[in-house]
Amino acid sequence: MSTESKVRAVTTTRLKQMKEQGEKISMLTSYDYTMASIADGAGIDIILVGDSAANVMAGHKTTLPITLDQMIYHSSSVVRGVERAFVVCDMPFGTYQGDPQTALHSAVRIMKESGADGVKLEGGEEILDSVKRILTAGIPVMAHLGLTPQSIHKFGGYGLRAKEEAEAEKLIHDAKLLEEAGCFALVLEKIPAALAKRVSEALTIPTIGIGAGADTDGQVLVIHDMLGMNKGFSPKFLRRYANLHDVMTEAIEHYVADVKSCDFPNENEQY
Ligand code: KIV
Repeated sequence: MSTESKVRAVTTTRLKQMKEQGEKISMLTSYDYTMASIADGAGIDIILVGDSAANVMAGHKTTLPITLDQMIYHSSSVVRGVERAFVVCDMPFGTYQGDPQTALHSAVRIMKESGADGVKLEGGEEILDSVKRILTAGIPVMAHLGLTPQSIHKFGGYGLRAKEEAEAEKLIHDAKLLEEAGCFALVLEKIPAALAKRVSEALTIPTIGIGAGADTDGQVLVIHDMLGMNKGFSPKFLRRYANLHDVMTEAIEHYVADVKSCDFPNENEQY
């Protein structure tokens, strides 16, 4: 498969129908070909090439350092592994907040060079002009409100957002503006479940929650976290579906022992 865009089975229209029909939307991150093809084969609806790649792939403390070229590299690897799911690529910090023309240029590069189906941007009214400019080029935009990790230095931590009424009201206002502008979906990260329910009921576009309770139209997790590859990260909202950290450690320890003891390779494993 090439990086050239092709229309996959999951589209923005299908995602809207899923909300209308009450079918929950499943979304996971992926950053490489192999993981994406496994997630796609397992029936995931949306694959997010998250800028969390900065954390889980590159070991950075925040998502800020990842570049547009690096996101395009991850996204094109993912696209080559996906047949069915809708692929969304995060726009990295600094590539859309400045002015709408730069935002459009960055989004066009992602679409042309990676073959992703859409882009995701963090923020509300303050980035609305950039969102609108990208949408005019026919590029699907997923919005992201609540805890927006690219603003971590403004927030001063990764705690729950919109606990106070004023921030909750601003979030609802922003969500409506983003829907009116034409975004096809909205990620709600780490906000009270009751607020996420209110927003989900007020919008016709699907909401996808992470740490936002059960009443959003879909759920998203970072794939390394839900597979249990990352032992040190245990927020309340995270459910681990496997313990790959221990499975992988055991397998690698076994391999090391077999090499040291000359058990590997044996006669059948050589030419
Ligand atoms: O970058 C990311 O992985 C995300 C999800 C956590 C929503 O934005």
